Amino acid sequence: MRSGTFAAIDVGTTKICTIVGEVAGTGETRILGVGISPSAGLSRGMVDNIREATEAIRVSVEKAERASGTRILSAYVGLSGAHIQSVNNRGIVAVPDRSRPISSDDIARALEGAKIISIPSNREILHVLPRFYIVDGQDSVSDPLGMYGQRLDVDAHIITVASSAIANVSKVVEAAGVQVDELVLQPLASAEAVLNQEEKRQGVVLVDIGGGCTDIAVFIEGSIQHTATIPLGGNHITRDLVVGLRCPYHSAEEAKVLYGHALPSSVAADATIEIEAFGAERQRAFPRRMVCEIIQARCEEILEMAVAEVRKTTEVQFVSAGLVLTGGTALLPGIDLLAEQVTRLPARVGRPSHIFGLVDELHDPAFATSVGLLQWAVGLPDIAPIGHYAGGPSAFDGLFKRIGNWFKILLPE
Ligand SMILES: Nc1ncnc2c1ncn2[C@@H]1O[C@H](COP(=O)(O)OP(=O)(O)OP(=O)(O)O)[C@@H](O)[C@H]1O
Ligand SMILES: [Mg+2]
Repeated sequence: MRSGTFAAIDVGTTKICTIVGEVAGTGETRILGVGISPSAGLSRGMVDNIREATEAIRVSVEKAERASGTRILSAYVGLSGAHIQSVNNRGIVAVPDRSRPISSDDIARALEGAKIISIPSNREILHVLPRFYIVDGQDSVSDPLGMYGQRLDVDAHIITVASSAIANVSKVVEAAGVQVDELVLQPLASAEAVLNQEEKRQGVVLVDIGGGCTDIAVFIEGSIQHTATIPLGGNHITRDLVVGLRCPYHSAEEAKVLYGHALPSSVAADATIEIEAFGAERQRAFPRRMVCEIIQARCEEILEMAVAEVRKTTEVQFVSAGLVLTGGTALLPGIDLLAEQVTRLPARVGRPSHIFGLVDELHDPAFATSVGLLQWAVGLPDIAPIGHYAGGPSAFDGLFKRIGNWFKILLPE
């Protein structure tokens, strides 16, 4: 657990959210200020216009600075996009002196070993997350530090991303005047905010359905098992409505947010909605059920793709706690029930928790990533059971970088 003041920036496809939080003496994270601005220059979770993205981030950061009365020098920043790949790998080291216990150096060497995977030159390792350790054949050791044994194995979850995605996100944040403390994979951040320990132990899938993409994180037996991003989100639902209803984007979005439901059978068969449409008549009436059927079809596709991601590394029956849906699209009424029908697993909507202070607007699934980034920065032991090792040249470097960050404070204006 750390203390001090931290900032997090969720660079999303539909909104940029900057949060400043402080860890109080009691260990609680208190939110000091939030700055939300509409996103620009991003598509499907990735930067596609440096100038527009920089400007949108600048607006969000300035709002958060004003709200919190602090100057944001550096921040934890989320990274997403379909370029994300993950793999589980083993690292093995010998502990030559049997009279001494396993040290943090041995653990770092084992993690270094786990990082030896072949990756193309245009990709980089973003995170190396220890899943569990094995000490002389004793498996499922959660922390081998201080134990005795001659052989230490680590099973680690390695996340690799496109180098260009790292460079572009870093560039837009830095151009907005903020140093990047650490880039954090968005599904891991969202998981910090909305999953509880019991769900992680019994097997759970985090599904963050945002605007441009859907972030997935699978936890089995308390450890991260798989991470992925699907390039589909709520904006695709809106675009389906534009095509289906032949209406402008903003009225399709209004129809979705005001009258949308993921289960068409839940709305009255004769209900109609009136929205602005293209063509001679400015306003046109549509059966509400038809709108919901269009929404349902895309939601089903996203949920089926999420389950297909789970199947890549594990049997679906091991995911006893089912799905936790978050992200702005999780606000769609009935999406949890639809998820239960499609996946035959339990499902609930996850909202950020364990936060105090100016938080009313943050108890919303759309803020799972931003709140989770802050919780990642703080490293609350209660909700961060896995070690956080930054990528880069070595796990140790990451550790030292984190220690260095502890001294990086935000100066009041
Ligand atoms: N009440 C609502 N009902 C249905 N959809 C909603 C509602 N509120 C927001 N949304 C949708 O949620 C999406 C935005 O979600 P979110 O804020 O999590 O995205 P983001 O983090 O900016 O994007 P991404 O994570 O994909 O980069 C939009 O498509 C929006 O239409
Ligand atoms: Mg998001």
